[in-house]
Parts: sequence; structure tokens; C-alpha cells
Amino acid sequence: MGDGSLRCADEYADIVVIGAGLAGLYAALLAAESGKKIIVLAKGSLEDSNTNHAQGGIAASICAEDSPDLHFQDTLSAGAGLCHAKAVRQLVVEGRREIWRLIDLGVPFDKEQSGLALTREGAHSRRRILHAQGDATGRVILETLKEKIAVVPNIILLANTFALELLGDSRGCTGVLCMDARGNPFCIRAADVVIASGGACQIYANTTNPPGATGDGIAMAWRLGARIADMEFVQFHPTALMLEGAPRFLISEAVRGEGAILLNSRGERFLFKYHAQGELAPRDVVSRAMLREMQETQARHLWLDARTVSDFERRFPTIYSQCKRFGLNLPGDLIPVAPAAHYFIGGVVVDQRGWTGIPGLYACGEASCTGVHGANRLASNSLLEALVFGRRVALALARSGRQKPRPAGARFQFLQGIANAQEYKARLRAITWRWAGLNRDKAGLEKGLAELEALEQDLARGVYLCRASMELANMLTVARLLLQAALLREESRGGHFRTDFPAPNHAHRGHWLLTRNSPPRFVKISEEEDDVLPQA
Ligand code: SIN
Repeated sequence: MGDGSLRCADEYADIVVIGAGLAGLYAALLAAESGKKIIVLAKGSLEDSNTNHAQGGIAASICAEDSPDLHFQDTLSAGAGLCHAKAVRQLVVEGRREIWRLIDLGVPFDKEQSGLALTREGAHSRRRILHAQGDATGRVILETLKEKIAVVPNIILLANTFALELLGDSRGCTGVLCMDARGNPFCIRAADVVIASGGACQIYANTTNPPGATGDGIAMAWRLGARIADMEFVQFHPTALMLEGAPRFLISEAVRGEGAILLNSRGERFLFKYHAQGELAPRDVVSRAMLREMQETQARHLWLDARTVSDFERRFPTIYSQCKRFGLNLPGDLIPVAPAAHYFIGGVVVDQRGWTGIPGLYACGEASCTGVHGANRLASNSLLEALVFGRRVALALARSGRQKPRPAGARFQFLQGIANAQEYKARLRAITWRWAGLNRDKAGLEKGLAELEALEQDLARGVYLCRASMELANMLTVARLLLQAALLREESRGGHFRTDFPAPNHAHRGHWLLTRNSPPRFVKISEEEDDVLPQA
């Protein structure tokens, strides 16, 4: 490992968006109407985002038997007492409008005779999940947005460009230090920066997320001094493909919504023992029930039986073809499945404009914490959140009067990267899976933190001019924040289960806010509280 200092060339933009998933692209597209120059950074190719892998769809109360009130209630119930009512109200009311805007933009949602086709997912009281090309919803929406963006002259899309560090400090963000596809560093000085870099479930050994989901935006915001909250709440998806040699590919909850059932290793249906909604109980309930069944029979996986799902190949073409690649013929074959880390509920705290509290720094999508998901996200609310809060960020950006920073031509110190970063990543993932997975307790979390610290001691602190090493540094930051928050929350609620505190505790009805250089701060939600997370 060597290090050195380099002078970095400066680029300029009014706005830099870090991340090219739904939240980032939608915010960029709408903010571009102001005429401002916008640069969007994608760490890898434009196909690498979590959005691109989103199968099930996008929830919205658009049919006659449904209403924003019912969607609001379902979101609050799933959120287990930690949702912020005002933000949820914005989500369900504005979300319906955003769906029609997507349709106007040309997104071809699937239709049936009576209109838009809607499916059901866990903890929804109505069929309200829109989908496109069966189970390719995220990809289809992104394709439409990319087509629109391609003809907007004031948006520049930079693929294979890694955001290494935010410029500025907690008094104001002034741009982004980046690395281009050839490994050369450069700066983009900007009036406003948006973190839309997605989640961090790659810190787990088993995850449905693509390799890029390493929490870079959350870690960068933390280093700059932003407030991070709800890190203990991770959503585990019950049905990831669990087949030797295959990635933990997502088998959408919509498959259960269309009638598939879960069987234990004795071939018995078991979920009604745990919850009245059976296969469509909230994800945390289904995942923990599965874990219990797996532990009882020492099984590595359970079975998803989709034999009753009609027209499987047409309805779920992506799942059908992925499973076929690994020798499974659906719907006839049972699918081996187990829970895997799927969605990061916590992230960078923002207000209803998507502002982090640091001048010039905004966040939206999975990297942000708006308060809409509470302690457990309702299925298919994440794409909706990306749209609603992506638009809110765009409005704030269009109105922003922040001046572009002056040229700096600054020199930066870089670390050259470590040879065995991938091996360290694997060690980190094993630690997080073991000690901060579906079940947690004090002794395990303390052990996990000590193991992370030992791992961190081998690594130099600083900015690495190497994607794998910088990702590792970011993953370490995110994992440490997660374990700290999980240790502080001495209760069980939503996506956080402590075997030593197995029940919810009203005294813990609030958020742990973590900020660099300050002790963790607990902010209670009062009964009247209906705003998004409070400002500092
Ligand atoms: C799924 O299709 O099961 C995933 C949808 C989501 O995570 O909201």
C-alpha cells in the first residue's frame, strides 16, 4: 500500500447526483427543467442499481376498492410505531400522482381487461402493486427514464465514475471528489449535491442486492457530519434463491401474492402457526418464522411451492429464466429459498425537501431516511418513496440559490488500495451476518463490534484511489453504525429483533441519531409528532 498527493482537475455543475437508480434519475430529470447543469454519477454501468433489480413493483392506491387512507394504514402497521405520519401521508397521496406521471412519460405498466394489473404483497390489505413486464418493473421504469434523460442537454450521465468523498464540511457541501473509469481522480465542484446511491445490504454475507450496494453515500455523508438514523432496521427478504453456486437471486413476494406457499423441510405448510396472514404476513415475521423452522430441522433452506401459480412464465419471466439457468423448471419444481438482507431502512436523515441539514447536501431513495418506512418497510413502497422524495428534492434543487464554489485546483492525499480488499469484504460480511442478522443480542453485537474493530485496525484511514478498497472502508463504516444502533435499541421492533429484549418497549419509540464526533442521540416520537425526522 502506498500513498501520495495529486492535484485534481475541476469540473463544474450546478447539481451533482450520486447514483443512477430511480431516485437519482427522477430527481435529475425533474430538476433539469430549471435549466441547471446536472451531472449524474453511476459507480458502475447504468444497469447496476437496486432499482434495476426491483421485481415485485410499486405500490399505489389506484383502484376503486382502495384509497390513500388504506395504504397509509398498511404502511403505518408495517412500520411498527416508527413511521412519521406526515411523510407517509405525502408518500401515499403524492405517490398516486407520480404513477400517472410515469405513465405519461411512457412507462408501460402491465394491464389486464379492467385496467392496470395489480398484484398483492405481504401486509397490504388490497391488491395495489403495479408491475411492468411481469417481474421487471424496476428495469422497465429505468429504461423509460434513461430514454428521456438522453435528450435533455443539461444532464450529463457519467457511468463507471465512483464518488470517493464529499467536498466541504458540515457547514456546507461544495462538490464531490470522484474517480473515473481509468482510476484517475477529479473534482466536481457544485452548488448542490444529492446522495441517491442506494442501500448497503452488501455488508451481509447473504443479500439480494447487486454488488454495488455498499453504502457509499451513507458513509460519505457520515464523514461529512450528516445525521444518520434507524441503522438497526434492516429488512430481510424471506425468499432469496438458496442454491449452491447461484447468487441469492430474489424470488419476488408477488409470487406468494399470486398463491405460492412456503413449506418446511418435512414438506409442511407452517406460516399460519406464526401469523394469521400466513405467507402474506409482514416480511420480518415470515423471515423469522423461516429461520425458526430451519433451525429446528437444521435445514439450510426451505421450499417455495409455486405449483398453483397460473401462467408462471408469462407473469414472472425474469424469475422463470433465472431459475431455469440453475436447473429449476418452474412452476413444477420446488424452489429452495432462505431469507437474505434486502433493504436498508435507515440512512441519511432528511426533511420533507430531502435536505440533510447540511447546506448543499440532499438525499433521496434507499440511502436516505425520510421516516416513511418506520421500523419495517411495507413491500413495494421503496420505488414509490424514490419517486415522491425524488420529486421533492428536485423542487428544492430548482429553487436553490446556492452559488457554485470557486475553482480550487486542490491537491488531495490518496491511499493506493489494498491487495486483498475482497477477502476483507468477505470477512466483514460474515461478521455482520453472524452477529447482526435476523436475531441479535448484546453479547453477539459486542463481539461483532470487536471483530469489526480488529478488521479496521489492519486498514489505513483515508481516501483510497481504488474502488474495492474505498467500498470496503464505506462498508466498515456502515456496518459499525448498524451494530452500534442495534446495541443501543434494547427492544424488538419491525426489522430489529433482540433475543434478549424480545418485545417492543414504548420507551424506545423513537430514533437513534448517529453523528460523527458526537455521542448517539435518542429522539422520541411523541404521539402528536407527525413531521419527518426532527432537525438537529
Ligand atoms: C419483491 O418483489 O418481493 C420485492 C419488492 C420490494 O422489496 O418492495
